[in-house]
Amino acid sequence: MKKNVPKKILITGGAGFIGSHVVRRFVTRYSNYHIFNFDALTYAGNLENLKDIEQSTNYTFVKGDITDADFVNDLFARNRFDGLIHLAAESHVDRSIVDPLAFVRTNVFGTVNLLNASLQTFKENAGFLFYHISTDEVYGSLGKEGFFTEKTAYDPNSPYSASKASSDHFVRAYGETYKLPYIISNCSNNYGPNQFPEKLIPLFINNIIQNKALPVYGDGNYTRDWLFVKDHAKAIDLIFHQGKKGETYNVGGFNEWKNIELARLLCRLMDKKLDREAGTSEKLITFVKDRPGHDLRYAIDASKINQELGWEPSVTFEEGLELTIDWYFDNKEWLNNVTSGDYLEYYKKQYQV
Ligand code: NAD
Ligand code: DAU
Repeated sequence: MKKNVPKKILITGGAGFIGSHVVRRFVTRYSNYHIFNFDALTYAGNLENLKDIEQSTNYTFVKGDITDADFVNDLFARNRFDGLIHLAAESHVDRSIVDPLAFVRTNVFGTVNLLNASLQTFKENAGFLFYHISTDEVYGSLGKEGFFTEKTAYDPNSPYSASKASSDHFVRAYGETYKLPYIISNCSNNYGPNQFPEKLIPLFINNIIQNKALPVYGDGNYTRDWLFVKDHAKAIDLIFHQGKKGETYNVGGFNEWKNIELARLLCRLMDKKLDREAGTSEKLITFVKDRPGHDLRYAIDASKINQELGWEPSVTFEEGLELTIDWYFDNKEWLNNVTSGDYLEYYKKQYQV
């Protein structure tokens, strides 16, 4: 390849939460790349997430659906991509319980469409890499002790995690069968700016602002390992550039919180931010019916990416939460825009309000 021809990198799901941070990072750091953001703009995808970079000369947005094989094949035929970072997915566990097929369509069928199109690209460009972004939920649930490592057996429990596990298996199978170069990373729970307010942290921040109930599922003793989204984007950058082909990397924050303790922490931080008397927001905590098949605990052992690629989280949880809370305060219009329309109906049904 000529030195001055920019590399073409396709990022799917770039209008979503994590994807938008990855797109911004690549567009601003790599002027020698042209970044294509391929996104269907579902309820979770929003171009407002990328307003600051949309005029960049090394950025192109492509509206399209990864389940549409003709569209995908045509896009790949018109552009000889050098790499693909695949984030597009249905990502919310509660939705997967209501509509599993939507998850099979996008997460499994959509991924296989991308794999098929990539095979042709790989024939013409041996340097091509298929980098698949996955989740720690494929490993199932931990008890009180232990961590997920890259060797932990897959044991998914929700339709969401089953669909992600299936897509991981397909990626690996294309690597084995057709020698398609790939990498997979499995990350823990992300939080930060631009997260759709159906997930725990943004939902609770926004409900506290609006004095609405904070629905804690079951007894609240479920544990998650939280990572600031920009640290995940940094890990994705490192893995894409320096990861070993055919390998898996676990990414996590070594930052476990029981949901109820996290809810109380958010209430304390928000009371300060809103000049409310200490203890005010905690009164909003409401225990509600448990999520069916609720995984007890996730915790990632991130020592492989730490030792091999030198990655570690750059912000503490306190710093990350502060940045996140401030972002939601400063972006009320974004919030209004993303929560109007279809989402409002979903929210009312989900929480019976
Ligand atoms: P998100 O729901 O915020 O964004 C998903 C994006 O994909 C949206 O922009 C949406 O429009 C797009 N999309 C959905 N279906 C599509 C389709 N059929 N065709 C094209 N685009 C489509 O998701 P997120 O939280 O940013 O997660 C991104 C990826 O990271 C997912 O693959 C998810 O499984 C994985 N992941 C998420 C987390 C987390 O905590 N959020 C943790 C680990 C891994
Ligand atoms: O672990 C990585 C996964 O983290 C990602 O793959 C998923 O895309 C992402 O959505 C997230 O899944 P979780 O189910 O862990 O995230 P969620 O924010 O939905 O829930 C976090 C915890 O909080 C979980 O134990 C369920 C609980 N919960 C969630 C909501 C929305 C509540 O108690 N009340 C709520 O209203």
